[in-house]
Amino acid sequence: MQPSPYHLENTWSPEGGKHGRLTLTLFNFSDSPLANFRLAYTTLTRFVDPKICDNAVFVRRNANFHEFAPPAGLSVAPGESWTFSVSSLHRIARHCTDGAKSAYVTREDGTHVTVFASDLLLADRTSEPPPVLLPEGRLELPYAIQPWPAEIDVKPEEDFPVALYPAKGTDAASVKALATAQALFRRLFPSNHMPFSLIAAPQGRALRFVERPALGREAYELSFSGNEVVLGFSTASGRLYGLTTLAQLLDGARREPGRFRFPVAGSIADRPRYGWRGCHLDVSRQFTPKDDVLRLLDILAWLKLNIFHWHLTDDEAWRLEIRAYPQLTTTGVLRGPDEPLLPQLGNAAEPVGGFYSQDDVREIVAHAAALGIEVIPEIDIPGHSTATLVALPELTDGQEAPDSYHSVQGYPNNALNPAIELTYEFLAKVLDEMVELFPSEYLHIGGDEVANGSWLASPLARKLMEKEGISGTFALQSYFLKRIKAMLTERGRKLAGWNEVAHGGGVDPESTLLMAWEKPEVGIELAREGYEVVMTPGQAYYLDMVQADAWQEPGASWAGTVPPAHTYAYEAEGDFPDELKHLMKGVQACIWQENFISRDYFNRLVFPRLPAIAEAAWTPKAGKDWLRFAAIVPLSPKL
Ligand code: ACM
Repeated sequence: MQPSPYHLENTWSPEGGKHGRLTLTLFNFSDSPLANFRLAYTTLTRFVDPKICDNAVFVRRNANFHEFAPPAGLSVAPGESWTFSVSSLHRIARHCTDGAKSAYVTREDGTHVTVFASDLLLADRTSEPPPVLLPEGRLELPYAIQPWPAEIDVKPEEDFPVALYPAKGTDAASVKALATAQALFRRLFPSNHMPFSLIAAPQGRALRFVERPALGREAYELSFSGNEVVLGFSTASGRLYGLTTLAQLLDGARREPGRFRFPVAGSIADRPRYGWRGCHLDVSRQFTPKDDVLRLLDILAWLKLNIFHWHLTDDEAWRLEIRAYPQLTTTGVLRGPDEPLLPQLGNAAEPVGGFYSQDDVREIVAHAAALGIEVIPEIDIPGHSTATLVALPELTDGQEAPDSYHSVQGYPNNALNPAIELTYEFLAKVLDEMVELFPSEYLHIGGDEVANGSWLASPLARKLMEKEGISGTFALQSYFLKRIKAMLTERGRKLAGWNEVAHGGGVDPESTLLMAWEKPEVGIELAREGYEVVMTPGQAYYLDMVQADAWQEPGASWAGTVPPAHTYAYEAEGDFPDELKHLMKGVQACIWQENFISRDYFNRLVFPRLPAIAEAAWTPKAGKDWLRFAAIVPLSPKL
């Protein structure tokens, strides 16, 4: 962040209102007095009643964006400050990241200047420091493999080979796989010695590839001796996983020779616990540049995760180029003080945008496929559609009262209207382009968090409900989603969505996969209704959740506190009755980026919980061991 002449401090006190009071102090370190100005800031601790502020005048609010002016005539001299407070918060603050994430001042001449925004301090209580979250760990077997394999029975050697190279006569496809594994390793660990060589390496060891058609699609076997290593596999995915394990073994032995070793005898027989081992990434709230997405895919491959769920649209931005609607990625992405989309979630005076061109998407999908990862794109409809509706106002019912409903994130009238035929024409064109870009079995259409009461003030929606004999928001949502499912079926794709897709009558469970996020029990209910389920409960697998109760620990907390040890130990299959277990397809990490305003923040919250989920997704329950995991996970790559 550039140095700013203005700094904002903020404190939260539990006194002063049902959800406490936020007190903000703006310091002027410029050389000129600040008069006739406004202060805007973004925070997830929203302010709901404009009447309840002290020593300030409310100007406007949109979701997490707040704007205030000082009382008439107030001027802040150089070196001086202005303090005001707001009560009527929509919830209490719990952590240092619950205050202003960003701020800017609009000066008298209309220019916007970014303000430095500090941590939220806690008043009238003890502010606990962050605890240590990862113990030192303990190793019973000296091998740096993660996720831990299903079966391992090997003996360590004192030394380790310089590199593994293809045995004489290795076929071209396996040599190419070795080259893929080399390149993956180099991207992840640019300064570490390469574990593989394509030519016979002095002091190296031969690696013999053997096709074993009886092995499962993602399974592999390794056997070790002093002369050679044998890798058995049945598909390209299994072969790459075997190579990844070998790279981890050798890299660990080289990096920490006292702790980790390479095997000289014995075997590993490995296969995943679940077929769906996912990681979701929300790129709407914060834009993740293409190169970072590519690196995240490399990390997923290293952890043997096989699904990348790419949350491409939300209220805050539409990030996917659609040739038929260029305005989605012009008007629909740019957030700024003078843009139709206001700054949110860490934005300040500078407008911010970012989207993926169709060429970017093709590159990302191909990169993922080469690593055995399927990309499942999500466009989040019908809710979470503010950016879409700002870009395409013709999709709104002009007779619907403004602010007739609000989403849980505070956006007014943010759902696509099921009663407007143009909505379906728009989505048909979007789906046509998506089908060309994404070869995945499923397209994810969101379906979450439509506010109860949505569309009830839309005359067009009321007319449709009367005609169809349906009543209420969720019955109308079901009508909409059934039509969307039919559109997907026509295009040869299956529907994936969040758990609320089942509301109001839902859709046909056949060829529908839902993600249980609100709480674990929802997954069992969905399976009872016949849906296939992936478990992504916020209480264990949402990586934006805070990792400790301490005030000084960063993160969101609406789903509770999620320490890495809990994420690791959580058993998604837990209470699933035996007869429903076949519908539980697997597990998934979710990276929601509202709070993720820097790479450092990303790494602090995503690691080690992402590797923890990867191990829960791969390793049999009996093989899970938190202390072993804690000993190995510091070797993981980060973004
Ligand atoms: C969600 O967290 N709204 C899926």
